[in-house]
Amino acid sequence: MEKEKFIIQGLGKEKSLSGKIKISGSKNAVLPVMAASVLFEDGIKMTNVPLIKDLDRIKEIYEGLGIKMDKLSNDSYFINTKKVRSGEMDEKASKMMRASIIFAGPILARFGELVFPHPGGCVIGARPIDLFLEGFEKMGATWEHKNEKYYIKVKGKKLKGANIFFKKLISVTATETFIMAGVLAEGKTVLSNVAMEPEIISLIDYLNKCGAKIKGAGTPVLEIKGGDLLKSNGFVYENIPDRIETGSFLILGALCASDLEICNCDPFHLEVLIETLKDSGVNIELGKNYIKVNNKNKENYKTFDIKTHEYPGFPTDLQSPILIYLTQVNGESLVFETIFEGRLNYVDDLIKMGADIKLWDALRATVKGKTYLKGRELDGPDIRTGFAFVIAALVAENESIINNIYYIDRGYENIENRLQAIGANIERVIN
Ligand code: EPZ
Repeated sequence: MEKEKFIIQGLGKEKSLSGKIKISGSKNAVLPVMAASVLFEDGIKMTNVPLIKDLDRIKEIYEGLGIKMDKLSNDSYFINTKKVRSGEMDEKASKMMRASIIFAGPILARFGELVFPHPGGCVIGARPIDLFLEGFEKMGATWEHKNEKYYIKVKGKKLKGANIFFKKLISVTATETFIMAGVLAEGKTVLSNVAMEPEIISLIDYLNKCGAKIKGAGTPVLEIKGGDLLKSNGFVYENIPDRIETGSFLILGALCASDLEICNCDPFHLEVLIETLKDSGVNIELGKNYIKVNNKNKENYKTFDIKTHEYPGFPTDLQSPILIYLTQVNGESLVFETIFEGRLNYVDDLIKMGADIKLWDALRATVKGKTYLKGRELDGPDIRTGFAFVIAALVAENESIINNIYYIDRGYENIENRLQAIGANIERVIN
């Protein structure tokens, strides 16, 4: 892999980014639909697919499963599943992307067996897969772990519908996995205490259009009647806008833009962030699919405390950008991360930039603002914090270098060109 980095000139006192920024399709909505293609007899056409590095990983997984991915235009693909087969999940791809685990549901449901390594991805906590293994057992599968791989087999040929109550916690990818498993299982599956993220609703809506029988989208209980393979019958999957990208640009705009329009987004998916920023004093104007924001009131912004929560609560994926926001507001705030135990590890880097942050434990940090950040060299540890470092570098004075930008490229399409278009001085350099 080529080592690339971003060199960013901080805006310092001249925080006047302006223009329009178009939001890409959602990474976390399109990945499960790509996995769901295994449930299809024919294939899926999808549009508004973001051009991100995770797509390369999906292609590697597809190759191992006999699925073809044909590019139709810049952002649309046809996923041809006519020759799909079971097999071993591509090891390299699975170890680089946590979302690879979502393939387990549809593959087991369709073929009754699967071998895969422990999924990798961003280093934001332990990220076990116990909920997946327990759920598959409930649906009639057995598993063993040997040679650092999981071998899962369905007793009989088909998964059996089951009642699965996610009592330990709410999980996005486990919810998606068992929705897909239930679609081809024998009988009824009831999933309780499930995640309600817009990405899950989008998946359910599309599967239902194509023949699945899933009730309860957007509520904590889902009921799935198992049936035959799905057919797209020409229905195109139209990907939803990326709400985390939208939220990150909104925070960037609140800090650094004299006038920014974020277009092709869905403000409804970001109610909690918009309400929080408005209460803090940020000028925000909402349309059906756009948000306008500026930093004209930035000297008067008020602090607030943040506790991350499953949707519709405050997203853990926006925890690092909002913490940077809080370094720029007069007063003290508490940031409480409740989803991933390793997701505040980056604060040391911000402290070195000049932020005043006290880390009480792995989950809680007090931020005292307002502080002046100074540019420095940073190693982005995951997708979201990688982009949060871009925000911090723009807020700061002087130059910053951000390494490990592979993580940013995993989730954000063409980020430097889009930022340059609104006035940011950011350059990609190959080492
Ligand atoms: C999804 O990850 C997203 N990824 C994450 O976005 C996001 O941060 C996260 O949901 C929370 O919103 C995708 O959609 C591809 P979880 P996921 O299972 O599903 C624990 C990004 O940057 N857990 O909801 O992996 C887990 O360790 C990514 O785009 C178990 O204990 O998250 C965590 O503490 C990063 N056992 C909690 O549940 C399990 O078997 C919630 O994680 C599964 C999860």
